[in-house]
Amino acid sequence: MNLEIDTKCIHGERHKHQDANCALSYPIYQTASFSHLTPGHNPSGFDYSRESNPTRTYLEETVSSLEQAYDTVAFASGMAAIATAFELFAPGDHILLGEDLYGGVVRFITQVSTKNGYHTEYVDTSDINCVKEKFTKQTRAVYFETPTNPMMHVTDIRAIAEIAHAHGALVIVDNTLMSPYFQNPIPEGADLVVHSGTKYISGHNDTICGFLCASNAQLAERIRLLSKTTGATLGPFEAWLCLRGLKTLALRMERHKSNAIAVRDFLSERNDVEEVRYAGSGMLTFSVNSSDLAQKILKNIKLITFAESLGGTESLLTYPIIQTHPDVPDHVKEKLGITDKLLRLSVGIENPKDIIEDLRAAFES
Ligand SMILES: Cc1ncc(COP(=O)(O)O)c(C=O)c1O
Repeated sequence: MNLEIDTKCIHGERHKHQDANCALSYPIYQTASFSHLTPGHNPSGFDYSRESNPTRTYLEETVSSLEQAYDTVAFASGMAAIATAFELFAPGDHILLGEDLYGGVVRFITQVSTKNGYHTEYVDTSDINCVKEKFTKQTRAVYFETPTNPMMHVTDIRAIAEIAHAHGALVIVDNTLMSPYFQNPIPEGADLVVHSGTKYISGHNDTICGFLCASNAQLAERIRLLSKTTGATLGPFEAWLCLRGLKTLALRMERHKSNAIAVRDFLSERNDVEEVRYAGSGMLTFSVNSSDLAQKILKNIKLITFAESLGGTESLLTYPIIQTHPDVPDHVKEKLGITDKLLRLSVGIENPKDIIEDLRAAFES
């Protein structure tokens, strides 16, 4: 059956996974290992949960269906998924990276993976001509977020895919900020999609998880080998929490978006707000007219929580300069506009009047 995305969020791939006891909620297979009947005869198809587990498989198939992917592996975190994607590269490879990346990825590149011998170069992926100029014979991939976090720059995935594929390079898109509900990079030409599933996919600020979605069998085979070998795959309980969260993805995303638009309109009318950046979904970034005001807002919000992370039911306010981007070099932060006046708001699904009232009180305290 060809289902709409909001129906897929609720029913997942249930038709392929009828539970032996017909449980409506897919069970948590909390087991490390699976029994074999005789040598070579393993009726369930499962051996060992690092490699695969029924609860995780059900989740992976659901995410593949939402992202229109060939296959998906669920990881213990978004960073585990990203680190696995970078295992695809070898010494001498050249990788283009979007300029405005989640700070943890910048830390991974500069402090962990340089020893692997591939070269990385930052580029503004929203400027196609700029990207074109950076390709070399060794370029193997373009990795970027769209929209970016926190500056909300948008990249044309299809245009990047055209150039990258002409050079035999992969396109890897971090789709965390839009979620599969608002954007599917694979039909636009991406080869791999990354998610911090900790964010909108699980959606309740209670689970750390990540996904790597592959567009074809060859890449799927590589990431399955890497994930079962390096072992940062998702446990069955977290997989179940994620499945439970996904059921309401469509409802949540619509509410995140309408709330974010209401907050954007409120902020845009204030004289003490210099700029509001919004590119869809439930995230917005704004700069106020002084560092003192930014600190005052962080100190005085009551309903909204001053915390790192995004994409959950609760509204969270983040100070990127010290929370998500401390490991990004100062000159890069300055170029991107990540200053001490910049705040990032993950707009939750509370009543929008309460979110706005909390912000107003914090501005005027
Ligand atoms: C856009 C983006 N990608 C990846 C990650 C890393 O995900 P995780 O925290 O689940 O490891 C984050 C975390 O904040 C993120 O915001």
